[in-house]
Amino acid sequence: MRTLDLVLPDTRYPIHIGQGLLDQGGLIARVLPQQKAMIVSNETVAPLYLERLRAALAREGVETLTVVLPDGEDYKDWATLNRIFDALLKAGCERKTALIALGGGVVGDMTGFAAACYQRGVPFVQVPTTLLAQVDSSVGGKTAINHPQGKNMIGAFYQPRAVIADMDLLDTLPDRELSAGLAEVVKYGLLGDAAFFGWLEDNMALLRARDKQALAYAVEHCCRMKADIVGQDEKEQGVRALLNLGHTFGHAIEAGLGFGVWLHGEAVAAGMLLAADTSRALGWISNDDVVRTETLLAAAGLPTRAPDLGAERWMSLMSHDKKAENGSVRYVLLKEIGYAVVANAPTDIVNSILCGKFIQHSLKV
Ligand code: NAD
Ligand code: GLY
Repeated sequence: MRTLDLVLPDTRYPIHIGQGLLDQGGLIARVLPQQKAMIVSNETVAPLYLERLRAALAREGVETLTVVLPDGEDYKDWATLNRIFDALLKAGCERKTALIALGGGVVGDMTGFAAACYQRGVPFVQVPTTLLAQVDSSVGGKTAINHPQGKNMIGAFYQPRAVIADMDLLDTLPDRELSAGLAEVVKYGLLGDAAFFGWLEDNMALLRARDKQALAYAVEHCCRMKADIVGQDEKEQGVRALLNLGHTFGHAIEAGLGFGVWLHGEAVAAGMLLAADTSRALGWISNDDVVRTETLLAAAGLPTRAPDLGAERWMSLMSHDKKAENGSVRYVLLKEIGYAVVANAPTDIVNSILCGKFIQHSLKV
């Protein structure tokens, strides 16, 4: 097991990465203020891993309650969130009763938000079960639910007490979900680490074959980058915005098509290529770098073309982006592989990219 620390001005917490961690209840028990916790999972993950986690915690003397939510991005909403509050109140949970998220990013984001709100804040722990959640959503304290008009619009910054990333849990992940997680992995290389991007080009086949060492290396690398960025800018006043590479376009795809039609990682992949296209149109990233980006995302099994939402709808959806300032959308764009910046882009250029007037990206050149 490898452990990283995410250090913030008023708290710090461990991110444990390895194999066989689900059965090590002590990793969670040691950060709980009370020998009682509520595990939140969903109807897909619970049959696979809930009883093992309960047993591991029982061995440490921790009593667990459970709430099992319906599965899917379209359930990341108020009604489903309320089921967590109902369960907490029904069981008489107190301010020291921790929540434990056992699932992917949807369960993690909702559990974190519930923890931020219940009795004005209770402790919580992340046990991410998808690659996407292990490399991104479980770390850094962004919690939220969706609104029909926009992705992750209602939420809070609220940090977990620990993150437990067990590579063995990825064995049961469907291939499409593994690829979705790889989109966020590629994101880290693109936004800030050209050498890691090169490592991904060399090792994508191993990752898709679920080689545990390759996966653990990638998860650790991404978590290290994320911990460093969040440590500098917890509330996204500056550098943390770079972690949204591909998300301005990607969130519009998710909301525009209806939540759950495209997976988050798929939308981010297509969104990163639109960001690369926009950057190239501005004369920044080179054509070669765009080709490498598209080639790597295709090798990860990800879509490389965005759906046609229509320029007006794109712009309307993107106007809700959380990086917007004074009504103007700001994008994460690329100077080169490993070097991203937050910038405005002329609407006519973005419109042209979205309308396909510029060739969308380079394999088609
Ligand atoms: P998800 O939570 O929907 O999980 C994907 C699917 O895999 C679900 O059907 C789930 O039930 C299933 N699953 C999970 N673990 C499994 C396992 N081990 N074996 C078999 N099936 C398993 O999706 P996701 O990709 O994990 O997360 C996407 C969500 O994360 C989005 O809502 C996105 O907005 C959010 N997100 C948040 C942050 C953040 O910083 N908070 C960052 C990135 C993404
Ligand atoms: N996933 C983007 C962030 O955590 O800031």
